[in-house]
Amino acid sequence: MKEFAGKTAVITGAASGMGFAMARRFAADGMQIVMADIEQTALKKAEKTLQDEGATTLAVVTDVSDGSSVEALKDAALDRFNAVHVLCNNAGVFANGPIWETPENAWQWVLGVNLWGVIHGIRTFVPLMVEQDEGHVVNTASLAGLIAVPSSGAYNASKHAVVGISETLWHDLAAANSKVKVSVLCPGLVSTNIFMADRNWPERLGERPAGKSALDPTTAGKLLAAQGMDPAAVVELVYQAVVEEKFWILPHPELSPAIVPRFENAVKGVNPVSLGGGLGG
Ligand SMILES: NC(=O)c1ccc[n+]([C@@H]2O[C@H](COP(=O)([O-])OP(=O)(O)OC[C@H]3O[C@@H](n4cnc5c(N)ncnc54)[C@H](O)[C@@H]3O)[C@@H](O)[C@H]2O)c1
Repeated sequence: MKEFAGKTAVITGAASGMGFAMARRFAADGMQIVMADIEQTALKKAEKTLQDEGATTLAVVTDVSDGSSVEALKDAALDRFNAVHVLCNNAGVFANGPIWETPENAWQWVLGVNLWGVIHGIRTFVPLMVEQDEGHVVNTASLAGLIAVPSSGAYNASKHAVVGISETLWHDLAAANSKVKVSVLCPGLVSTNIFMADRNWPERLGERPAGKSALDPTTAGKLLAAQGMDPAAVVELVYQAVVEEKFWILPHPELSPAIVPRFENAVKGVNPVSLGGGLGG
């Protein structure tokens, strides 16, 4: 997609981190922005910031793990702007801990948001895009979609699935001769609020598993301060990928040497090599 002005982007997880940076970047090119997030107060604040910068926005409180909520998001977007041209399935949460100790409700939470959020987004919005024969879908996966980060089993499962779904969507759109394109974003660490994801723990899943579902804020803060990439820099790569119709977005090329041996070892039948204590994110 080369022309953005006057078109509409729907971005999930738009109240914080990379989603907010995506909203700001597409607004800067004159797009109308539908900001979806589960965190109402943060969403309103984020929308106000963009409106003060001159953006045309619509904020819709949305739970991406709930198909009817994503359907309502589509209805609100169409009511206001009539069409959707860019969809960023970006909302995500993180839980850590040894895989056999990860409680069932933590699995449900992580897969509900990170995996079902992307599935609902595709099932709800891609038919519109195919019909209008124009559009671009950006699915936020992670480096944890290309390597198995230790101590992040549910997160790895969700992000591997998002990479697989995105690649399949690419093939299915090509087979249908559609002009709709797709990209998958696979970053390493980015300076966002991801390690405080527990703030959105849903009450319907019962008590939050104590001490198992996120890094403690001090450790996370230090990690991100030392290693986290600026979300705006990540999103500049997302924007370029949409313009140039590039599928893979890997903002941390210095970490690619961890990806290649994984697949080389797979075809050679060599056992997994230790990645140390885990990267998160
Ligand atoms: N920060 C990193 O290091 C990193 C690395 C790789 C991938 N990611 C991925 O990037 C994406 C964005 O996360 P971020 O790092 O900007 O974190 P963030 O916590 O700053 O933003 C995530 C947003 O998703 C929202 N959200 C959570 N549950 C939701 C739900 N059920 N419905 C709708 N919105 C919901 C949160 O309220 C928040 O605004 C996620 O998919 C995450 O897994 C992050």
